Amino acid sequence: MSATIIDGKAFAAKVRGQVAEHVARLKGDHGITPGLAVVLVGEDPASQVYVRSKGKMTVEVGMNSYEHKLSADTSEDDLLSLINQLNNDPGVHGILVQLPLPKHLNEDLVINSIDPAKDVDGFHISNVGLLGTGQKAMVPCTPLGCLMMLRDHHGSLSGMNAVVIGRSNIVGKPMAQLLLGDSCTVTIAHSRTKDLPAVVRGADIVVAAVGRPQMVPGDWIKPGATVIDVGINRIDAPEKGEGKTRLVGDVDFDSAVQVAGAITPVPGGVGPMTIACLLANTVTACCRANGLAEPEGLTA
Ligand code: GUN
Repeated sequence: MSATIIDGKAFAAKVRGQVAEHVARLKGDHGITPGLAVVLVGEDPASQVYVRSKGKMTVEVGMNSYEHKLSADTSEDDLLSLINQLNNDPGVHGILVQLPLPKHLNEDLVINSIDPAKDVDGFHISNVGLLGTGQKAMVPCTPLGCLMMLRDHHGSLSGMNAVVIGRSNIVGKPMAQLLLGDSCTVTIAHSRTKDLPAVVRGADIVVAAVGRPQMVPGDWIKPGATVIDVGINRIDAPEKGEGKTRLVGDVDFDSAVQVAGAITPVPGGVGPMTIACLLANTVTACCRANGLAEPEGLTA
């Protein structure tokens, strides 16, 4: 039997549509236009692509997009001063500092200088603590996107066994908190986990976020389980011609699709949900800043 393919591209388009509707209501009923500021330091080509894409989609849903491109040798003081200015700008509801930062800048210091209420990445220590204690937080975009897809597919996640492979601050840890918040029994597995195949075989939900191409084979998957593949890895694809490459996830899709009940593909699964959730977080931040009702279904 072959799994249901969870279409992240279509789902992300639906989320962006809901965001656009909410933005139109904020403008029409309250005269407020949500604004997202993205700060890019340096010329990393992948980061430039992400930032361009974020800016384009921000405008497409009707929000204001502010891009701040700083040179790679920008001083920490200058970056902190820009963040302070954005923190105090009432037209800016969300602030995102694109990572990674150049080596001479202290990432933790920079992230923690963002007003937590505008921290649409959910990386500020206050938001990490709020999420960990089940309080209203800004939630990291990729795990939020995974949670939305899981809720959409299953309805309630209550009582399900979930295994998150990977313990990063950006995906693994917040993903585990969100699943716990939805009453899953959660295991965080990592490189030192003993008998990882057995751990994964016990899971009704598997979230793979390790950054190792095709690491999880189909025979680790419990029949009927839901598999969310966060990995985006570029590998050689000689079958496409010399020097060609292709994108694969952390899960071996071809074998896992035979066993799973549902699975996200790579590309076209989790990836498109990240920016959609960034836009959703910006609307949420704007509503909270103005004491207005939050968009339903777009928060954790
Ligand atoms: N770099 C790669 N992904 C992300 C992300 O989600 N947020 C930020 N700020 N930087 C990133």
